[in-house]
Amino acid sequence: MKIEEVKKLLEEDMNNVTSLNELNELKNKYLSKTGLITVLNSEIKNVPNEEKKEYGMKVNEVRNLFNEFYETKKAEYEEALLNEKLSKEAIDITLPSKRVKRGSKHPMTRITEQFEDLFVSMGYTVYEGPEIESDENCFQKLNLPKGHPARDAQDTFYLKDEYENFLLRSQTSTAQVRAMEDNKEKGPIRIVCPGKVYRRDEDATHSHQFMQIEGLVIDEGVSMADLKGTLETFCKRILGEKTNVRFRPSFFPFTEPSVEVDVTCFKCGGKGCPLCKQTGWIEVLGAGMVHPNVLEMSGYDSTKYQGFAFGTGMDRFAMFKYGIPDIRTIYGNDIRFIEEFDRKDDE
Ligand code: DAH
Repeated sequence: MKIEEVKKLLEEDMNNVTSLNELNELKNKYLSKTGLITVLNSEIKNVPNEEKKEYGMKVNEVRNLFNEFYETKKAEYEEALLNEKLSKEAIDITLPSKRVKRGSKHPMTRITEQFEDLFVSMGYTVYEGPEIESDENCFQKLNLPKGHPARDAQDTFYLKDEYENFLLRSQTSTAQVRAMEDNKEKGPIRIVCPGKVYRRDEDATHSHQFMQIEGLVIDEGVSMADLKGTLETFCKRILGEKTNVRFRPSFFPFTEPSVEVDVTCFKCGGKGCPLCKQTGWIEVLGAGMVHPNVLEMSGYDSTKYQGFAFGTGMDRFAMFKYGIPDIRTIYGNDIRFIEEFDRKDDE
């Protein structure tokens, strides 16, 4: 076929294209290996030398005609296809939405956050430690060597074989050791450590797993008066300003002197009721001045630094605050139970 004939045919074909498919067929017809323009091009070898240049230019003209047409049309068709797709997939935003079901915070999460907010506002840092602990951190460095009778009250779960020196921590007091060992300058510390602890215990008010929060302050010139002020503020903020606080002498191996802290009964306000066994008081905290042995074992100079520490069960507070009669429901994983607390926090 001559160049002019191909050009004419192409012009006719261009007028008849109606879709992207047809356009691609046209591309085949003209530009594939055996396409009309390709063939024209290969014929150049039969054209006399002096005409080759003009011949080539003419073939190019036809090719350009096709290419320009092809690109423009292709863009047009693709845009049309896209628009069609978009209009089909349009979302009707006037439809009423599906209700998204919101989760609820677990009561222990709520209480933990309240404790953390309070202590952070008093300049403490939240310092978390692992639940699997070494015997050393959980007991020995807290002045409870192997065989110490005070270990009996904190019998826990022990790991086996090559991990036999590890256990599930029975108290968050382990954080005291960790915080002191972490502090390379052996300088001041002010931390609280909330977290799960484990003991061999189970009844309505004791679970084999429960939550404590531990506090540790170390600095120069820290005294029992600081401890008392801190714990009074803490109890009043969490349980209400009317709460009275009472300190009783006690014993903990890692503090000297040690105290137990009672607060006026949340239920009867101190008059006496079954909850407080008619005494008007409820025990909530253990505390004391950090024992010099404990400071020294973790590298602190006990002639320069003093510290106070306290620890309390957070489940107790949650039970009183939210009126939960049985600690086991806290860990029962019943969604209906957890949902109750959205409402209670607003009351
Ligand atoms: N760890 C103690 C317990 O679980 C509570 C405790 C008592 C913590 C006195 C302290 C403390 O930091 O000074 O029974």
